[in-house]
Amino acid sequence: MTSPDPVLSDNTPSKSISSELMSDVPLSDNSKVMAPILRVQNLKKSYDKENVILNGISLHIREGETVALIGSNGAGKSTLLKCLVGLHENTDGDVEVLGTRFKRTATRQQRHNIRKQIGFVFQNHGLVKRLSAHTNVVHGFLGQKGSWRAFNQAFAPQDWREKAMHALEAVKLSDKAKDRADSLSGGQAQRVAIARALVREPRLLIADEPAASLDPASGHTVMQQFVDLARENNITLIFTSHDMEHAVSYSDRVIALKSGKIHFDKPSGEVSKADLHGVFDQ
Ligand SMILES: Nc1ncnc2c1ncn2[C@@H]1O[C@H](COP(=O)(O)OP(=O)(O)OP(=O)(O)O)[C@@H](O)[C@H]1O
Ligand SMILES: [Mg+2]
Repeated sequence: MTSPDPVLSDNTPSKSISSELMSDVPLSDNSKVMAPILRVQNLKKSYDKENVILNGISLHIREGETVALIGSNGAGKSTLLKCLVGLHENTDGDVEVLGTRFKRTATRQQRHNIRKQIGFVFQNHGLVKRLSAHTNVVHGFLGQKGSWRAFNQAFAPQDWREKAMHALEAVKLSDKAKDRADSLSGGQAQRVAIARALVREPRLLIADEPAASLDPASGHTVMQQFVDLARENNITLIFTSHDMEHAVSYSDRVIALKSGKIHFDKPSGEVSKADLHGVFDQ
């Protein structure tokens, strides 16, 4: 039985994806070294004929890196995140993510392979309001075999329930396990969403504005827990942010998007104020 995957559902309609198998991707072959978590070459994306959103993005992300993706509203950050993991159809380019290679579209099987190794956290966290924090974390198992039982923690296998509790402990919310999601503060709800992403034991964690709409103190708590947990578990983390302090201080590397291209890609310690101003100058 297949189950809907609320962890992956956000508000953006995704185009229906036709399959295109990928056997002849002309990526330079580094296969004797460790497979990269993510390698993209000349990625292009347009939603319509007039507007090119991504116009030739090439990047390589290594295992365990924490990468901040920045750029002005509409620069294409969310689009890029979705294109990287096969949730959107790409207009052109080559993508290799978590051992799966595709060009314009990932097949259903490829998307499944990618999905089971990825955790997602979105700004609006997407928790089921009337269910407990614990059940929401158990929902992280949806999409896995037998996962209909994850609809409620009471039906879930013992080890899933325990893993969900450990994940809540990791974000320091075990005392809220039984509380309904809609009784949590924004910061707490976001930490539940992080716990839900973590139970999947992902190799790659993708977070689209995980700390947006949180007050400064909660924003720092969420980001700190996020990067600490990613580092402790050797999870590669890519997050977007409009908060330049978050982007620089919680990442190893900052990638800036502007006019459909990578404007700069630098270690966080080398990013200057002038670099940041340049990203948002018209
Ligand atoms: N599903 C879609 N269909 C058509 N156009 C889209 C779709 N999603 C995004 N766009 C357009 O693509 C452009 C890039 O949007 P995207 O959401 O990727 O930007 P962003 O950098 O994440 O912006 P923000 O900082 O506001 O979140 C925008 O012009 C947007 O209107
Ligand atoms: Mg966005």
